[in-house]
Amino acid sequence: MAERMDGKLVSASVKQRVADETAKLKEKGITPGLAVIIVGDDPASRVYVNNKKKACAAVGFYSEEYTLPENTTMEQLLSVIEVLNSREDIDGILCQLPLPEHLDEQAVIDAIAVDKDVDAFSPANVGKIMIGNYDFLPCTPAGVMEMLKYYSIPVAGKHCVVIGRSNIVGKPAAMLMLHENATVTICHSKTQNLKDICKTADILVAAVGKAGFVTADMVKDGAVVIDVGINRIDGKLYGDVAFDEVEKKASFITPVPGGVGPMTIGMLMQNTLKAAKLHHNIEE
Ligand code: GUN
Repeated sequence: MAERMDGKLVSASVKQRVADETAKLKEKGITPGLAVIIVGDDPASRVYVNNKKKACAAVGFYSEEYTLPENTTMEQLLSVIEVLNSREDIDGILCQLPLPEHLDEQAVIDAIAVDKDVDAFSPANVGKIMIGNYDFLPCTPAGVMEMLKYYSIPVAGKHCVVIGRSNIVGKPAAMLMLHENATVTICHSKTQNLKDICKTADILVAAVGKAGFVTADMVKDGAVVIDVGINRIDGKLYGDVAFDEVEKKASFITPVPGGVGPMTIGMLMQNTLKAAKLHHNIEE
């Protein structure tokens, strides 16, 4: 039976670290500031944004929310970002995705100042991650790495299979695993022999967006299974992994909810702290 990896516990330790450092910054008169933009009234986005604001308060950050209506134009959204880019008291800017269809997500990401892009979604920050010389790591993949570290799970030399190739999770997760010297395979909807490849994984990362996609017959005995899926069915949350059957085969597994999800916010706090330190030329 697998050991459950507790994202709430690990996230709390990350947030405690951030809170301690924030207290020290405050002695120097610096309060990290995060601006969160939400467009429209997607209920899931609403929950995420509320949680991000709560986390800011808990670690001692200043935060500000911009709630814009569904029919906001690109021009309006970009003008909000432009003001935030030039504000001295704002260190990080986050525009909650997905945006309504009529808005150009990439153009919005591109508009956020690179040194305030605490999601690490901008091409410049993605490029830095590729090179391995980065300031910010994308929150969800960084949360996965933090959990592996917390549970002392070795990554170097292991075969890591990532299912999913999104810009937010799959691709950067693969890159971070590679930086830690894993041998990495990225699988996706066109992959042949998906099951056979997954069965060779020492660490299997599911970022597919389909409830229960990873079944026990796709998992090697003793594998570490990381579930990044958040699928809402009739108001209930399900991961990408068929938890009950996979739990019996894996050595470690992340539950949904309470696994990777809480980590994302912890890492956002860490990135915002880093942005504030860079902004004020404070050494690590
Ligand atoms: N939507 C889902 N996850 C994320 C995230 O990490 N950042 C932003 N900005 N939007 C998201």
